Amino acid sequence: MSVRIHPSILAADFAHLADDLERIRTADLIHFDVMDYHFVPNLSFGMPLFESIAANSPLPLDVHLMISDPLRWAPGYAEAGAESVTFHAEATESPAQVAKAIRAAGARVGLALKPGTDVDDYLELLPEIDMVLVMTVEPGFGGQAFMPETMPKLARLREAVDASGLEVRVQVDGGIDERTISIAAENGADTFVAGSSVFGAESAADQIALLRETATAHRH
Ligand code: DX5
Ligand code: ZN
Repeated sequence: MSVRIHPSILAADFAHLADDLERIRTADLIHFDVMDYHFVPNLSFGMPLFESIAANSPLPLDVHLMISDPLRWAPGYAEAGAESVTFHAEATESPAQVAKAIRAAGARVGLALKPGTDVDDYLELLPEIDMVLVMTVEPGFGGQAFMPETMPKLARLREAVDASGLEVRVQVDGGIDERTISIAAENGADTFVAGSSVFGAESAADQIALLRETATAHRH
């Protein structure tokens, strides 16, 4: 699977969003962080902004739901055209049911794990999902420092995915820049969310290219 770079528009300049979408057109997907002041102590944006970006962006959208009760909201994003919808394992007692609802609504399914959540409890779900997101910061805010202590979990997940023979992407999110992306790639990630390192760069296109090259060089 080739490396994918997903800029997180949480770090975009919302007064100039059209310009910022243009700056990241060489990326693979747009990462769209939905926060609800409940599952995480922050509020971001929801369906109205999603619909407007989906209607105007040439890139597909990767939705990351940091919300309680994902079963209630996730299928709506799939119906509205998300390429993938990721929900948190910690936010539901029935991840298999949420995964099924997202697939039925026409999107790929992502399962996200907070830094402290064990991956072993969820490996049996691999056939029901298309991506696992290993959070490399506590979800809720952009601009935090990458947590290297999540790397053993990432490596264990990579091993399990390879052993399964399934086409499941392995995503990391939080504190990814040109230095930390090499560590995450070495430990098995193939899909990389980057907010501040892309939008904070003078040239977002150059930064996307650098992230892509660095990750590709460090994959096994
Ligand atoms: C954090 C979000 C991330 C965030 C990443 O809870 O899920 O997607 O935007 O931002 P950076 O790359 O700045 O850590
Ligand atoms: Zn995210």
